[in-house]
Amino acid sequence: MSSFPEHMARRWPVLAALALTATLSLAQAQTKPAATSNAAGTAATAAIVATPAPGTAKAYVGIGRQATVKEVQAWDIDVRPDFKGLPKGAGSVAKGQDVWESKCAQCHGIFGESGEVFAPLIGGTTADDIKTGHVARLNDASYPGRTTLMKVATLSTLWDYINRAMPWNAPKSLSTDEVYGVTAFLLNLGGVVADDFVLSDKNMAEVQQRMPNRNGMTLDHSLWPGKGLTTAKAADTRNVACMKDCAVEANIGSFLPEHARNAHGNLAEQNRAVGPQHGVDTTRPAGAAPAVKAEPAESAKAAQAPQAPQAKLAAPTALLNKYACTACHAVDGKLVGPSFKEIAKKYAAKSDAEAYLAGKIRSGGSGVWGAIPMPAQTLNEADALTIAQWLKASAPR
Ligand code: HEC
Ligand code: HEC
Repeated sequence: MSSFPEHMARRWPVLAALALTATLSLAQAQTKPAATSNAAGTAATAAIVATPAPGTAKAYVGIGRQATVKEVQAWDIDVRPDFKGLPKGAGSVAKGQDVWESKCAQCHGIFGESGEVFAPLIGGTTADDIKTGHVARLNDASYPGRTTLMKVATLSTLWDYINRAMPWNAPKSLSTDEVYGVTAFLLNLGGVVADDFVLSDKNMAEVQQRMPNRNGMTLDHSLWPGKGLTTAKAADTRNVACMKDCAVEANIGSFLPEHARNAHGNLAEQNRAVGPQHGVDTTRPAGAAPAVKAEPAESAKAAQAPQAPQAKLAAPTALLNKYACTACHAVDGKLVGPSFKEIAKKYAAKSDAEAYLAGKIRSGGSGVWGAIPMPAQTLNEADALTIAQWLKASAPR
């Protein structure tokens, strides 16, 4: 826990805070058995009731204070698979559709099908899966994708994730009833609940019994720590080593027949550049090395001979990586957001470009380049300005 990665701490400050609280309370709980708890949710509560051991208190005197009940309540939002932590509330499929269309569809698609930003949420489950609790297509190597609804086994996880992390650009901005509604809407898209369904804390457990992949999760391996969560003693490799007449060729799960390879143009150019599914370069024969992207003439020229009075600044690569800008932006070519080259070009003639860009980097926004918003970025003004100055200086002149 102490090594909670810095970039995660930036993205998920609350998780980081919880991790910290949990670590602290664990240390305290060790000296005060009454407050001991092994559940992360209640560990946070333990932090406010546990009194530090005399030695500990001295070591940290004057540092920090006890979290208030309200602060802990704000952090302690996890919903467990047994629905402990689920707040009271309700939301209809219809209400959820409104939430979806105004706050979710721009990234996930009208039907949750979009692969534009990340993997699609809905699709690939059948009425039969709802009966069996196993998503059959997870075992079908020819099925092209894995959606959230195909994989998720526990409804609490879906509810909790939306409640804590979505919409991506404004986490925790939904009301409890909106979370119920939008979860109901997603389940309705997946055929799990009817059009007039109202999801609430009262019927979550019933709906859990209809989750398409509810029986698809196994704890029968040793990947989880602690005895309570596993039945197995060894890792879940069940195969017996083959010693004789063994298959030499791997069984390929999906392939493109040669005649169809380039039938509809280059797949690599039609698939998004982010996410788990990438298109192969169908202009080249199967198995050929991918084409080496030729450096665009313009940037090569610019790199060799800066014609402008202001010299080109070196790319602030360390900052772009540190703040994970590169998750959404490439120097060349659109990812989730526009390329840095396009941005530089657009503001080449803007006199206050540096201040404007530095401001936008910190505030985020939408509508300048398309419907996908950029979340506000947590970085200091000096770093934002360094990046903005680089963008301005690399603008073509
Ligand atoms: C600005 C774009 C954006 C918006 C708006 C948005 N999401 Fe997301 N959503 C994402 C991204 C990106 C991820 C993947 C995040 C990650 O893995 O860290 C994601 C992940 C998810 C997942 C989990 C998928 C999985 O399999 O792990 C769910 C469920 C989800 N979003 C639901 C919603 C709902 C409901 C809303 C509206 C209230 C919403 N999202 C709004 C971008 C967005
Ligand atoms: C979650 C994906 C994401 C991340 C992370 C991200 N951006 Fe963006 N960025 C976008 C999107 C999407 C847009 C287009 C927004 C629009 O249309 O207004 C954008 C736009 C921009 C713009 C142009 C703003 C304008 O008004 O034209 C700049 C500059 C920018 N980003 C810089 C950065 C920097 C620097 C970082 C890292 C500190 C960063 N971005 C992180 C997605 C992202």
